[in-house]
Amino acid sequence: MVTGASSGIGRQTAISCSKAGARVILLGRDASRLEETLSAMDNPEIHLMYALDLVQFEEVSAMVEEAAHKMGPFHGLVNAAGISTTLPLKLLSAEKMDHFFKTNVHTTIQLTRFFTRHSDKQSGASIVFLASVMGMAGEMGKTIYSLTKGALISGVRSLALELAPRNIRVNAVSPGVVLTPMSQNAIYSQDEESLNRVKSLHPLGLGKPEDVANACIFLLSDAAGWITGTNLVVDGGYTAR
Ligand SMILES: NC(=O)c1ccc[n+]([C@@H]2O[C@H](COP(=O)([O-])OP(=O)(O)OC[C@H]3O[C@@H](n4cnc5c(N)ncnc54)[C@H](OP(=O)(O)O)[C@@H]3O)[C@@H](O)[C@H]2O)c1
Repeated sequence: MVTGASSGIGRQTAISCSKAGARVILLGRDASRLEETLSAMDNPEIHLMYALDLVQFEEVSAMVEEAAHKMGPFHGLVNAAGISTTLPLKLLSAEKMDHFFKTNVHTTIQLTRFFTRHSDKQSGASIVFLASVMGMAGEMGKTIYSLTKGALISGVRSLALELAPRNIRVNAVSPGVVLTPMSQNAIYSQDEESLNRVKSLHPLGLGKPEDVANACIFLLSDAAGWITGTNLVVDGGYTAR
């Protein structure tokens, strides 16, 4: 199951999962962009796709029940859906905070809760949360985004302990700036000087969706069978300095 499958990192993760032989449940809001992802996948006819807003928890719960009936039990979940912004403190209204926490944190926990009801009892499962280097380092105007991503990095550790007895592994992936619609719409992409500054902070250059999807595939796979509760940083060296 991959959220955010209609764009960027989630889309590439869904495609890479299909190439690795998985049957994938694609989640996103935009049905036509989900269809585009589906058509880029291997064996498009074996996958399932749901266009829905992840903050509609009852709808999400019903979707998981239906998907489990059609395709369960589940082996992997990648929580890639998320939103970002750059805002100074004076604009961090309670409403904005609620919206960001609901989208970036609450949706991932609720979906994880529904998912684990139907994870494979024999072989276990692997769950990946897309966090960010902004959950570890600061940048001007990134407070609200950093708060939500730091929450995921923290939550992963306790979830990993809670779910280990069921052989469910739980990890975070923290990317630096990756070339997707999210970063292309960011304020630093609007002028060349700011973009060059962001590029200069990444010794290996900006990331591609494949760079992050590969990390997700690794954590989903048996090659990561003894890895849980960690935060895999995939940032082209952003946090190395
Ligand atoms: N790109 C980066 O530089 C970067 C760096 C670090 C971390 N990340 C994290 O990586 C993840 C993927 O980012 P991205 O760059 O691929 O972003 P993106 O291209 O903007 O895609 C975001 C995805 O999230 C989905 N989404 C957002 N809110 C949703 C909601 N309420 N319900 C259902 N789906 C929702 C969108 O669905 P629709 O388009 O269908 O609405 C879209 O598929 C995010 O969690 C982001 O914070 C990104």
